[in-house]
Parts: sequence; structure tokens; C-alpha cells
Amino acid sequence: MSNIERTLSIIKPDAVQRNLQDQIKQEFKNKGFEIIEEKKIHISKEEAEKFYKVHETKPFYNDLCKYLSSGPIIVLSLQRENAVMENRKLMGATNPIDAKEGTLRKKYGISIDKNSVHGSDSIDNAKIELDFFFNR
Ligand code: CDP
Ligand code: MG
Repeated sequence: MSNIERTLSIIKPDAVQRNLQDQIKQEFKNKGFEIIEEKKIHISKEEAEKFYKVHETKPFYNDLCKYLSSGPIIVLSLQRENAVMENRKLMGATNPIDAKEGTLRKKYGISIDKNSVHGSDSIDNAKIELDFFFNR
């Protein structure tokens, strides 16, 4: 039984600034993800606030939104079997210190805030987040 899904990935400003996008895109391809759509954008703080609205009440919300809007990002629509969960596995834990060997955040992340990649955490959120960046 195939269970093809799409999920949203973001290559965050710290990774784009270090020019890691091609390497990270290759990591997705190596794990069987097809890149359906991608674009490089620089969002405003207001857009970042909308995107991260679920974190509105968190103490890190303001810094997080400032950070995501601090420089160019690459947004990607990724497709494969169980894409949402497989991308979360490939990314690793939120804090690079806790991320397992071989994960993107372990390899490329600098700190809990500059952790190089975002990935949708559920199928419902993947739809919402893909819509946010690609169907506006
Ligand atoms: O990105 P992920 O789903 O793994 O984590 P999250 O809990 O949804 O948090 C969203 C983002 O907020 C993280 O990727 C971090 O960049 C940032 N964050 C932070 O700066 N400080 C924290 N204590 C927790 C999260
Ligand atoms: Mg999250």
C-alpha cells in the first residue's frame, strides 16, 4: 500500500546564508523525496508571525519570527511515501544537541533557534503550510 504525501520544508536563513541549500536538497533526494516545487523568498516579520501563529504564546515567538524574516529562505514542497513523518525523522530533534547522528539538524544546525530546517509536523499542517507558501 502506498501512502504518498506532500510536506513543507523550509531551509532556514542560517543554512541559506552558509550556502547549504544544494547540499540539503541532495539529502532530501537521497532519502527518496521528490521536490515538487521550490522557491527562494524573503518574508516579512508579519508573514513569519502568521506562519508561526501556533507558537504565539511561546516565549521564543518574537525572536523566532524576527529570525525567519532575517534573510532569504528556500521553501520546498516535498513528496514521497509518508513524507511528513519521514521528513521529521530526517530533520532530527528541534535542538541540534539532541538530534541523532546523520540528521539534518545534527549535521547543519547551529543552535535551537538556528536549526537550519523546518518541517510540517502533521498531514493537516502540511496542507495548511503548503497552501501558505505555494497557493497564495
Ligand atoms: O521545528 P520543530 O517543529 O522541531 O519545533 P517547534 O517546537 O515547532 O518550534 C518551532 C521553531 O521554534 C524551532 O524549529 C526553533 O527554531 C524555534 N524554537 C526556539 O527558538 N526555541 C525553543 N525553545 C523552541 C523552539
Ligand atoms: Mg513545529
